[in-house]
Amino acid sequence: MLSQRRILLAVTGGIAAYKSLELLRLFKKQGADVRVVMTKAATAFVQPLSFQALSGHAVHCHLLDTEAEHAMGHIELARWADVLVIAPATANTLANFAHGLADDLLSTLYLAVTCPVYIAPAMNHVMWKHPATQANVKTLRTYGVNLISPESGEQACGEMGIGRMAEPETICQQLIDDLTVTHPQILSGLNIVITAGATREPLDPVRYLTNRSSGKMGYALAIAAQQAGANVILISGVKQLPTPTYCYFVSVETAQQMHAAVFENIKDCDIFIGAAAVADYRPVACGEEKIKKQADQLTLTLQKNPDILADVAALKTPPFTVGFAAETSDLEHYARDKLTRKKLNMIAANWVGRAEGGFERDENALDVFWQDGKKTLPMTEKSELAQQLIALIAERFNALN
Ligand code: PMT
Repeated sequence: MLSQRRILLAVTGGIAAYKSLELLRLFKKQGADVRVVMTKAATAFVQPLSFQALSGHAVHCHLLDTEAEHAMGHIELARWADVLVIAPATANTLANFAHGLADDLLSTLYLAVTCPVYIAPAMNHVMWKHPATQANVKTLRTYGVNLISPESGEQACGEMGIGRMAEPETICQQLIDDLTVTHPQILSGLNIVITAGATREPLDPVRYLTNRSSGKMGYALAIAAQQAGANVILISGVKQLPTPTYCYFVSVETAQQMHAAVFENIKDCDIFIGAAAVADYRPVACGEEKIKKQADQLTLTLQKNPDILADVAALKTPPFTVGFAAETSDLEHYARDKLTRKKLNMIAANWVGRAEGGFERDENALDVFWQDGKKTLPMTEKSELAQQLIALIAERFNALN
């Protein structure tokens, strides 16, 4: 699947460096020609000889290498590559790239390449969540870098959390998907924020109010938008799906957290799609103690949540704003009401609570409305439906811009 592809694999100094040997093997198995660059710190974890033996080429470790300057210095390497993959990428590497430092071979190469760049970070979960690291990741996404998000689980340091490098199979598959399938780049360079999944509103330390959203529709939209060339930020409530690697991902629980996450990421956003099933109400108070079983009836007092979609559309310079409407009756009437009341550019309405489509299922159908138009997208796989909706959004977005 990757034959004729020239992959420049950069390995930086983390314990996950050993996984890059397997990644190299997978790239070779797919027919790619692979050259390896290692930082000084990476060579403390794995010997360059191992990468040399597997790639069949000398490993590049130094910026000022007189031998290499005659044969393939950093500019030649940059010109040679079809794709640059940094796996694992340390927090320091992300910071160097985000700030344009060029004090070793890899950071210089990063500035010199014009090919697609993929970064698979790996670090301790506290380091990953640090605002400085997250800001660097965000900056790199605006530079067009493809982030292969780290995974959650037990870490080398013995702690649990998000920060483990994505598995070599995942990284290899991502390259195969991106490099071998060509999608029309109808959203090229646009910044898109998408919400997905269900919010969860705590009642007490053990109970919550939520809904049936699985995240499938919103995640399919994020994939379709990314494939169409957009820089995607996916803000997800509770979901049944693996953490995506193809976009910048923010995980939240409550409607208020989703609201805050959206407004942290909405600057420079061209298109906003609200596919999340956000709780309209939350319990007024979430006590620290479990609610005890006493009377036969229990009354919950609920407080209205902020309307994320309406608040985005009410911004001074709002993005092209697309809402969803999940209805059990009078689909067009309620959808058009939301379109007007929330001042949206477009709304995608779907039936819920029926035998087909809607929540949790792999298929869905949408009736899409805008001020002076309507289009029906019939029942199909959510992945296919998402591509159709993204094409329609691109069409309407271009008509307005
Ligand atoms: O996740 P799946 O299992 O794949 O299911 C997909 C889906 C049915 C959840 C999806 O297609 C869908 O319809 N999402 C919107 C669900 C919803 O909350 O609809 P609504 O009609 O209640 O809300 C209207 C719009 O306002 C939505 O865009 C919603 O995201 C937004 N909203 C609602 C309340 C609120 N407080 N803030 C909001 O932004």
